[in-house]
Amino acid sequence: MYTGNFIFLCLNKRFTIIEEFGIISGTKFYIFTERRCPVANYYDNEKFFNGYMSIRSQKMNYNNCIEEPLMLKLIGNTESKDILDIGCGSGDLSSILAKTANSVLGIDISQKMLNTAREKNISNNIRYQELSMENIDSLSEKFDIAVSSLAFHYVENFEKLILDISKLLRKRGSLIFSQEHPMVTANRQLKDWICDPETKSRYWPVSNYNEEGERFEKWFIDNVKKYHRTLSTIINTIIKNNFEILEIAESRADDELISKEPKFLNGKNLAHFLFIKARKL
Ligand SMILES: C[S@@+](CC[C@H](N)C(=O)[O-])C[C@H]1O[C@@H](n2cnc3c(N)ncnc32)[C@H](O)[C@@H]1O
Repeated sequence: MYTGNFIFLCLNKRFTIIEEFGIISGTKFYIFTERRCPVANYYDNEKFFNGYMSIRSQKMNYNNCIEEPLMLKLIGNTESKDILDIGCGSGDLSSILAKTANSVLGIDISQKMLNTAREKNISNNIRYQELSMENIDSLSEKFDIAVSSLAFHYVENFEKLILDISKLLRKRGSLIFSQEHPMVTANRQLKDWICDPETKSRYWPVSNYNEEGERFEKWFIDNVKKYHRTLSTIINTIIKNNFEILEIAESRADDELISKEPKFLNGKNLAHFLFIKARKL
């Protein structure tokens, strides 16, 4: 606990106030924690949040129709398990898993997403916590399963994340995650289909594939930062950090889905998402 001028000193040194402790003899006391790793939080931007939520509220979207069913298939049995949902967002996956799991802890960096989760996806065995995935090493409990849907492409230090997850899992615990496919994260410039005017064929361009690192794109707002890693980097990072890989999957829209909603044709021609299921050794 600190007070007075210490507050300015502490904030300068990248500490953050967790809560006001109280007033003793007219002096305010605060509880601080170290702000260990400042990271971008796009989902708390009003314009971004509204845009993202408008997509998620569509009855047939890529998340509900393609990502979530494959994710649930890979996760499999959650009976009596303790689950960590990393980048849980509005808690849709957490709440499905909580139906059979013993407990679910959903962590996310965005207050707006967590507020939505706390409004629409509550249950006695779900807790939501504001925590960035860069700082999950601050958690003290252990889990049987760690899941993450479409959040890992936001993390810079993938190796640390995987190592931290490995430490949080019990022996033989599993990690199941989806992220944007490296075919999608690769391009630096053009991020759209190319149409050949003669043949009318459409191509998804893949360039800069072997140059890993930051990528910026306009998605509701300018300069949303994601990280591109090659498929081999993703797989080898998991293998090197105490996991065996059980299954790899790629998203695919089938003809039945396309007949119901033609916009999913792109999802037949391109795997938007990569899925990995791994088990701690
Ligand atoms: C595409 S949304 C997916 C949300 C949820 N997993 C789902 O599938 O419905 C990505 C989520 O990752 C969260 N996120 C992004 N960067 C993060 C970070 N560094 N730490 C924790 N969460 C993060 C965002 O706030 C957002 O809720």
